[in-house]
Amino acid sequence: MGITPAQLERYQREGFLVLEDFVESSTCDVLRARASELVREFDPRGTISIFSTATQNHLRDDYFLESGDKIRFFFEEDAFREDGSLKHTKECSINKIGHALHELDPVFSNFSRTPAVKQLITDLGIEEPLLLQSMYIFKQPNIGGEVTCHQDSTFLYTEPQDIAGLWFAFEDATIENGCLWAIPGGHKAGLKTRWVRRAGGMSFEVFDSSHWPEDQLVPLEVGKGSLIILNGLLPHKSLANRSSRSRHAYSLHVINGRSLYPQNNWLRRPPEMPLRGFE
Ligand code: FE2
Repeated sequence: MGITPAQLERYQREGFLVLEDFVESSTCDVLRARASELVREFDPRGTISIFSTATQNHLRDDYFLESGDKIRFFFEEDAFREDGSLKHTKECSINKIGHALHELDPVFSNFSRTPAVKQLITDLGIEEPLLLQSMYIFKQPNIGGEVTCHQDSTFLYTEPQDIAGLWFAFEDATIENGCLWAIPGGHKAGLKTRWVRRAGGMSFEVFDSSHWPEDQLVPLEVGKGSLIILNGLLPHKSLANRSSRSRHAYSLHVINGRSLYPQNNWLRRPPEMPLRGFE
């Protein structure tokens, strides 16, 4: 369990670390089945209407911006016809579930708080870990959308920056079905932008407007059960999935409770539901 000093050194140097076979294949299947169950129980009627007209875009944003303490379902951009109806089944149209699965769903809460995950976070030096955000990402066959190059700290900002993103592959992730790509060492260049809540909505605060050196991106192809740890400052992306295979993954972000978590971050939790660690 945990990581070796050599692995820690590599993580600090490259900004990411791949741990193969971190999750049992059968556990991946249990979590995939649970995600399917959640989607089956989800009634999309209200949400589809939100996506059907441009004038209601801010409602869609509210649906996102108020999801930090909820389990909500987000559709693939390419899931809809022009009239707003779904091209495929609901099950094949969801892009992701977020953002408090680790808090509200017992299956994902247990998985997120396994001793192996806790040990890993301890080894990374996060002294007072708080589980901030979780996402179940489907990367659907044929329509799974691209995620452009970004740093997670843009969206989940702390001072000082002390956040680890844990990305669990529940299926093989390949170039073909939209694996992660990252710029090794790119975390050392600092934070480019921050997504800030202001009166009237969200906006980007820009610290560095240069382009990402995307020619330095390398694909992180990993097998089912692998874990990729990502430094919050590491530039990474994933391409669209145009293959016939899905690419399910679960992502969990852990911050250090000793860092300042500004209240103008997008993700906020109400006083009655404070952030929790591994207890
Ligand atoms: Fe990310």
